[in-house]
Amino acid sequence: GEVRRLEGQRVLVTAGGTVERIDPVRYITNDSSGKMGYAIAEEAVRLGAKVTLVSGPSALPVPAGVELVSVQSALDMREAVLSRFEESHVVIKAAAVADYRSAVIADQKIKKKSDSMTLELIKNPDILQELGTLKKHQFVIGFAAETERLDEHALDKLKRKNCDLIVGNDVSQEGAGFSGDTNVVRIFDRNGLVEALPILSKKDVARRLLELTADRLPTKASE
Ligand code: PMT
Repeated sequence: GEVRRLEGQRVLVTAGGTVERIDPVRYITNDSSGKMGYAIAEEAVRLGAKVTLVSGPSALPVPAGVELVSVQSALDMREAVLSRFEESHVVIKAAAVADYRSAVIADQKIKKKSDSMTLELIKNPDILQELGTLKKHQFVIGFAAETERLDEHALDKLKRKNCDLIVGNDVSQEGAGFSGDTNVVRIFDRNGLVEALPILSKKDVARRLLELTADRLPTKASE
């Protein structure tokens, strides 16, 4: 059989987009389907890891053997991730977290009034950046979704957010990024490009990312 290279590892994966409420019937979100994160969770189980998946709303079935924690907003996701960070060995942040949320969540449906209205947005906390600051033994992997100057922006995010690896995702490219079944990624560590992958299924991207991760982990996780 195949070597279970992540045996004994606790892997925390985030997936999907966050949902930022405006009122009881309206919200802001993005095009993330959860496919990339779910594929990572599924492959990590196959490699023997104990996997927790923190996910925004997604239509996907939960992969067998994965513990699902469903969240809505970036603040919910932050809480779910931070409370499980200490016990995790590997954290992989494939989620598309909203950078901003509505300053106010109205209790009642907002009424139509004037010809224009302004929605005030305030910044969400950057969860990955917080993990980078708190990080001790954990191996932390970020994603970077970019539409231009991928390498530069991805490396900058890796350094600013203190990640061990970053998966650069040129979402303007055919077959890459949000919603589809394939992705095209460039994986970086602190020293620069580690691997440029061709167009692959999200499952195969997940598999390669987890192999690179296993190569970089201390031989056996200690409890
Ligand atoms: O779900 P799919 O439809 O399969 O699509 C997959 C994907 C395109 C969403 C995925 O491959 C991807 O690129 N995810 C990251 C998307 C993103 O939000 O990138 P970013 O460059 O805005 O954020 C960089 C990193 O910081 C990400 O790891 C993100 O999870 C994290 N972040 C961002 C903002 C924030 N407030 N908190 C965070 O933790």
